[in-house]
Amino acid sequence: MTKDFLAITDWTEQEIRETLALAAKMKKGEIAPRPLEGKTAALIFHKPSLRTRLSFETGVWELGGQGMFITDAEIKLGVRESIHDVAQVLSRYVGLITIRTFSHDHVIELAANAAVPVINALTDRFHPCQVIGDILTVQEHLGRIDNLSVAFLGDGNNVFHSWANLASRIPLDLRLGTSEKTMPDEKIVAYAQTNTKSKITITHDPVEAVKDVDIIYTDVWASMGEKDKVDERTALLQKFQVNDELLKQAKDSAIVMHCLPAERGREITDRVMDGPHSVVFDEAENRLHAQKAIMVQLLNR
Ligand code: CP
Ligand code: NVA
Repeated sequence: MTKDFLAITDWTEQEIRETLALAAKMKKGEIAPRPLEGKTAALIFHKPSLRTRLSFETGVWELGGQGMFITDAEIKLGVRESIHDVAQVLSRYVGLITIRTFSHDHVIELAANAAVPVINALTDRFHPCQVIGDILTVQEHLGRIDNLSVAFLGDGNNVFHSWANLASRIPLDLRLGTSEKTMPDEKIVAYAQTNTKSKITITHDPVEAVKDVDIIYTDVWASMGEKDKVDERTALLQKFQVNDELLKQAKDSAIVMHCLPAERGREITDRVMDGPHSVVFDEAENRLHAQKAIMVQLLNR
């Protein structure tokens, strides 16, 4: 097991499965480890958050520790002092660092220079904690995580990248329905395709993406840091909106997922988000259990 959890690909297939099993056990209350007893975890957030911040603060407390939230207004990472020096100083105080920021490279540099585990709480490139919470939700609703068909509709951005990373580890039929101008990183897609048990398809046809799938997934069309692009993205991605008509093309048993926050009426309709196929609030809940398991794994490695 690596010291840090910065991307799904930091872990082997077995480590992902073990973490999932641990999260399920902790959720059921079968075990309640406290590896953070008497310790503090730094929670650095350079972007807004509801789920990630609150689930980490709650999770840290449930693992016996206390979370300390700090924004970039205080740290000014790499500006007030170098990322190296911030990493060194934090390692003298805290048992664990979680960071949500823009640049993935900054998180890599922080982790490389910190003596304690660093967890990626979202960068412009990846959102690995989200996807661990998502597969816990999939396991609960569909009874398995292997060989499922997943239609990701919308922006080929950080959350999709983490799903592509997952496909490099777990057999998946992953289909991205997106526009020509919102394509994912080619290298991330190419790496996912190295897993011969997974199939990755990118299409500009929403019906082709969702035909008979087990899971429909969506995310906002303009991510944090690019909200000025929302009108342009809406024009590009309108036909990928998750609505009743598109949902009819999926399996009757299909579940609808969204990492949240949602822009209701844009990438997903109210009817679908509040409808019987939606598991979006279970996903939100499972961030807590997934992240507790991630922290336990890193602290016990
Ligand atoms: N899904 C997610 O990461 O939500 P927040 O931005 O509210 O943390
Ligand atoms: N893609 C979104 C995910 C939010 C959890 C963003 O980066 O804003």
